[in-house]
Amino acid sequence: EYFAPKELPLKGQKVVVTAGPTRERIDPVRFLTNFSSGKMGYAMAEAAANLGAETILISGPVSIDAPSNVKLVPVESAQEMLDAVLKEFDTASIVIKTAAVADYKPKEVHSQKMKKQPGESTIVLERTTDILSELGSRKTKQLLIGFAAETNDVLHYAKGKLEKKNADYIIANDVTEAGSGFGTDTNSVTLVGKHDVEVHFPHLNKKELAHQLLQTIIKLEKDELK
Ligand code: CTP
Ligand code: CA
Repeated sequence: EYFAPKELPLKGQKVVVTAGPTRERIDPVRFLTNFSSGKMGYAMAEAAANLGAETILISGPVSIDAPSNVKLVPVESAQEMLDAVLKEFDTASIVIKTAAVADYKPKEVHSQKMKKQPGESTIVLERTTDILSELGSRKTKQLLIGFAAETNDVLHYAKGKLEKKNADYIIANDVTEAGSGFGTDTNSVTLVGKHDVEVHFPHLNKKELAHQLLQTIIKLEKDELK
């Protein structure tokens, strides 16, 4: 049974999981965000903890409860998520970036509520830091696992992200597939990794899928984890 494995292959390891959306403030009452529910990330964290890892779950704002066996670190913006991950990075053996990090934030955060004006309006956006890329450039022994939610050319884009971000694995997700992606309880993904690893997973409950993904990665890595 996936929630009660007999072996604890991640015992003694620290696993950091990011989950949920980020919120990028516009003014005190408004923000930019996305549809991430946090379910896949929370499932990854629960699976890691159930496999014996000391698990840190760094989460943007979501409406689900954290698993009882993980340490929850709530954050709001991409910058806060980056800071929280970097605090844990040196001592982590695995980092799983499930979060749907906003790619852009408002260039200016208004300290008072913006008032509407006649006619059109513009909010100038600037890029957030790509947390996974940042970790990819800093990593020493950490295993880096990212996600890629795509609507087309899924494997092509996932392999590009694997390379560009210096990740070890990317879990590719076709969000246009029924019952896959944002907000759903199920998902179907393909794990892509270095050395042309490509493993397709059946359509599964996110908790079961998370467990199978971690078990597969552990098996692929075997003695490499420290
Ligand atoms: N990611 C991140 N920091 C960002 C943006 C993305 O760490 N600012 C991570 C995500 O957590 C995920 C991976 O990068 O693990 C891929 O995210 P995705 O949005 O699919 O890729 P992007 O590089 O942002 O490309 P695009 O949105 O243009 O497809
Ligand atoms: Ca993105």
